[in-house]
Amino acid sequence: MRCWQHKSTVRALAPAKLNLFLEIHARRPDGFHELETLMVRAGICDTLCFEEEDSDTSHLRIRNAETRTPGGNAPPDLSAGEDNLILRAVRAVQSHAGVDRQVRITLEKRIPVASGMAGGSSDAAATLVGLNRLWDLGLGRDELFELGASLGSDVNFFLCGAFAAVCRGRGELIEPLPVPADLSFVVVRPHSGLSTAEVFRHCRPSANARPVGPLVDALRRGHPRAIASRMFNALQSPAEGLNSEVRALRNRFESLPTAGHLMTGSGTAYFGLCPNRRTAKQLAARLSAEGLGRVFSV
Ligand code: C5P
Repeated sequence: MRCWQHKSTVRALAPAKLNLFLEIHARRPDGFHELETLMVRAGICDTLCFEEEDSDTSHLRIRNAETRTPGGNAPPDLSAGEDNLILRAVRAVQSHAGVDRQVRITLEKRIPVASGMAGGSSDAAATLVGLNRLWDLGLGRDELFELGASLGSDVNFFLCGAFAAVCRGRGELIEPLPVPADLSFVVVRPHSGLSTAEVFRHCRPSANARPVGPLVDALRRGHPRAIASRMFNALQSPAEGLNSEVRALRNRFESLPTAGHLMTGSGTAYFGLCPNRRTAKQLAARLSAEGLGRVFSV
């Protein structure tokens, strides 16, 4: 999580993630699913700006970095209210550290929402780190991880700061992977999104769970085709059942020259792992012209 301070303003970059592997092991009594997933950080980032607020409430302002209009409006499907994970992270820090201070946060939103790219979780992680800096709280790594896990299953992946990690438990137990950060993807976020809870409600734990080890080995070697042949997402089949755009994207990607393709997380964003950056950019240009949704390369 990159975070820097200039005078009384703290800024943070909140990256997205892609899941190259996700296997469901069991449904737990608390309703969550025990899983094993391999995530990589993706080079599309939200930007957060934190400033001290003198009134007695914290405020969040969201600008849609994609609209490019002056002042840009918030994406329509994203609340700037108390239910936003950023403001929940503010409250978690205030109560954990016993501080009575308030903050004014501006979020420049680039990561598509409800896409399986964990933009909300990454924003929450950035908020924990940003407030630790702004208020000079001296919270340690373990404290931040505990707060992260209380906010969402994906938050700790972003706190750990690694390019890639295997995440277990409900997603909050992180094993960083020392693999090179040079993968190229083309990503399509179709017009509709999916609710994570809804997709998990439709999944079933695998009877014969696949291991993540072969993908980890392939990532160390770095050959896109070997990596792609070991990619897997147990949430893709339920997501395809719920959303026809995900099904259509799988069919479209079948005929593209990627090394392999997959839905990320609980969807709906769909990615192709490309042999190199040039192919990723070319495919992004080609798919942009097809009206499939938002297309970018990372
Ligand atoms: O943890 P997070 O808030 O991202 O999870 C959103 C929803 O996704 C949870 O309320 C739960 O329904 C589902 N989920 C799950 N098992 C996980 C992670 C999430 O069932 N490991």
